[in-house]
Amino acid sequence: METVILAAGKGTRMKSKLPKVLHKVCGKEMLRHVIDAAKEAGSTREVVVIGNGAELVKEKISGVEFVLQAEQLGTGHAVLCAKENFANSNGTLMVLCGDTPLFTGELLKNFVDAHENSKVAATVLTAEMPDATGYGRIIREDNGDLKKIVEHKDASDAEKNIREVNAGIYCFDVKKLFSALTQVKNENSQGEYYLPDVLTILKNSGEKIGAVVADDYTQTLGINSRVQLAEAEKVLRQRKNIELMESGVTIIDPASTFIDAEVEVGQDTIIYPNTYLEGKTKIGSDCVIGPHTRFTDMIVGDNVQAHFSYCHESEICDGVILGPYVHIRPGSKISAKVKIGNFVEVKNSNVGEGSKLPHLQYIGDTDMGSGCNIGCGTITVNYDGKKKFRTKIGDNVFVGCNSNLVAPVTVENGAYIAAGSTITDTVPEKNLAIARARQKNISGWKDKRNS
Ligand code: UD1
Ligand code: MG
Repeated sequence: METVILAAGKGTRMKSKLPKVLHKVCGKEMLRHVIDAAKEAGSTREVVVIGNGAELVKEKISGVEFVLQAEQLGTGHAVLCAKENFANSNGTLMVLCGDTPLFTGELLKNFVDAHENSKVAATVLTAEMPDATGYGRIIREDNGDLKKIVEHKDASDAEKNIREVNAGIYCFDVKKLFSALTQVKNENSQGEYYLPDVLTILKNSGEKIGAVVADDYTQTLGINSRVQLAEAEKVLRQRKNIELMESGVTIIDPASTFIDAEVEVGQDTIIYPNTYLEGKTKIGSDCVIGPHTRFTDMIVGDNVQAHFSYCHESEICDGVILGPYVHIRPGSKISAKVKIGNFVEVKNSNVGEGSKLPHLQYIGDTDMGSGCNIGCGTITVNYDGKKKFRTKIGDNVFVGCNSNLVAPVTVENGAYIAAGSTITDTVPEKNLAIARARQKNISGWKDKRNS
């Protein structure tokens, strides 16, 4: 079974600069959802028809073949553009739209099986929509067979009352499809070559066609507007939350938990409300995440706790405690059992095992060893206005409160830094560095000032 996916349209109703099929649902492009489901259903080859924003689509989507539809003359014309790609194909061609991202591979698999078992020339998937506005309506014969599909814009008032719609998912005998497609005309309200018309053409030429109703209409929702995009997001988010809960994750309040499609979460992890797990984030087991936490493209070990934290493109190892109010910025690795909390920012840094950054630090471009205790208010001074420099801190270093480490600078193993120091030179192993003015007390100063 091979697949063609239609993705050349502009998506006018989205009112967007971005091609419609690149808009994301649960953190993944609509088109990617469609491609992944096709592959899951056993498709061996996917040809994507592109046009609007073709270069951008090619840049963002890999692992498929592309064919250009230079002018968007309708869905029937779009499929015809891929004719040469399937010149040597036999058997079943599945046709999907790039703007229906909610179906699962399982739904497609069952649909393909139904098509192949019934030995018809074409099968269309239909759905009973609570609100059918905008969709093509399924017109059936008195005996229940498919008669034709009428687009919303061409439908009479009576036809508009029909709630059974074309889901935009089809299976064809590939040879019969391409020979009938050339007969599709554009005599309709939109002046477009409609793909659904090919079904009537096949039927009128004596072929058998089928129409299978989907069990779950939410899987066939099409996205043409931002409102529909938000509806799809809600359906998919709910599905993802249920999938995770069924695999042993506790989600305290699914309605306020936002987990992207590709995120992985281990068993017995508890997710508190207002938490966002995004992109390719992977979380281990027995963690407590949230409330109010956002992880984007994070690798997180087991037994991690993170409260009120924002962390992106970094790695956090087992047993780390984060928060409240922590910002871990890209390129950081936080080793096991580190504690970071209370208004701390870490950027592009390695923090060694068991080190503590408990309050009000900025650690940027730093390589820190294990067992360090970094005092409140410590700042790595990594930028001279032109260039960034790294700070090196060994193992078991103790930095007193309110110290500045002016990079490039090295603090060797076991060194101590007195509170309030501004360190500009290497602190050798096990030394104490004091770099501040000595205190001077002026006796009787107040009385003298007042006189
Ligand atoms: C289409 C169907 C409609 C069905 C609905 C399901 C047609 C004529 N109508 O309507 O019966 O109920 O999907 O969601 O097929 N595209 C191209 N080239 C074109 C035109 C469209 O590649 O020239 C692509 C679009 O990028 C999109 C897909 O085809 O991914 C469907 O086009 P769209 O304009 O969204 O059709 P609908 O009005 O939703
Ligand atoms: Mg559509």
